[in-house]
Amino acid sequence: MLTDLKPQAPDKILALMAAYREDPRDAKIDLGVGVYRDASGRTPVMRAVKAAERQLVEEQDTKVYTGLAGDPAFADAVSTLVLGADKPADRLAAVATPGGTGAIRQGLELVRMAAPGAKVWLSDPTWPNHIAIATYLGMEVATYRYFDAESGGVDFEGMQTDLAAAAPGDTVILHGCCHNPTGANLTGDQWDRTAAILSERGAVPFVDIAYQGFGDGLEADADGVRRLVAAVPEALIAASCSKNFGIYRERTGLLMAVAPAPDALETTQGAMAALNRFNFSFPPDHGARVVTMILGDETLRADWMAELEEVRGHMLSLREQLARELRERTGSDRFGFLAAHRGMFSLIGATPEQVETMRRDHGVYMVGDSRINVAGLNAGTVPRLADAIVAAGI
Ligand code: LMR
Repeated sequence: MLTDLKPQAPDKILALMAAYREDPRDAKIDLGVGVYRDASGRTPVMRAVKAAERQLVEEQDTKVYTGLAGDPAFADAVSTLVLGADKPADRLAAVATPGGTGAIRQGLELVRMAAPGAKVWLSDPTWPNHIAIATYLGMEVATYRYFDAESGGVDFEGMQTDLAAAAPGDTVILHGCCHNPTGANLTGDQWDRTAAILSERGAVPFVDIAYQGFGDGLEADADGVRRLVAAVPEALIAASCSKNFGIYRERTGLLMAVAPAPDALETTQGAMAALNRFNFSFPPDHGARVVTMILGDETLRADWMAELEEVRGHMLSLREQLARELRERTGSDRFGFLAAHRGMFSLIGATPEQVETMRRDHGVYMVGDSRINVAGLNAGTVPRLADAIVAAGI
């Protein structure tokens, strides 16, 4: 049996992590996987996380299973963080999942269970694992135009035109903020117009919000998904705590489903819990409990928010520095989009050959589509990246 297995194509982000590790050069720069690093290159445990973990170790008196949906207090805290205090609680189903990726996987399984022929619409480009998971589940994938490489912004006209072809029951994955990989995001008005198109088509939005707090702030980053949920009859949302709480390896995520009416809530919640049971039974709890403690404690929450603001500010200053250094070197503002983008990522518009040249000649590692993780930089490496970009002729 096992000899019949075919080799799996490596995930390009994870393959890059391995290549970086193997490069013996001291001056190499890792702009690959989406992990935040501070100015000294570390990915620290956040202060509030450490404090909550200490308290948890002291106070926790059992490790017995949670429910299939995880701890309801976690679902309540994170759904409020994402959807705000006026979330549609009487129509909101939610289950804890292993990370945001787990929420995407469970959400797509829910779509397949409810509407077996539904197509999955993905932005072009998108996070490669969206494509991999949907394809693995045997779902048909379609793409909608999203990125305008010329301006570094969103091709909203193209997006509207393509989404107008979505069929009733299709699901459309949207990045809640900090679009991965492009860094280009919808405005509030564009969210409203997207909601209108999807409602008209009867297509179901599925918002992947993995970077809340990394763009314009916790509230501003949730504005799009909140507008959408207020305007459409049903929606799915996959939230991740990996990045904004820095608990990557704890696998802490939440899948939410907004049902069209309160009487559909119980069945929706039951289907989501059943899917958890079929796939892994009970979701991981440690990270979820830490997040719940932080969000429920005024002091911990305030400290977490302050540290998250430092993280966001650090990324913004790196963006501004890189745009400035490139302006100085090229005498043009054609990299100005780097300062306008939000989140960890930007597509810098290099060809695969130019990406390879920068890796070979300068030890700069970025994904082949020229996605850079801005948080992989520091004030000292920004000028080197700017030099590499100019030398590669981008
Ligand atoms: C990324 O896009 O680099 C992150 O979301 C990490 C991952 O799992 O790919």
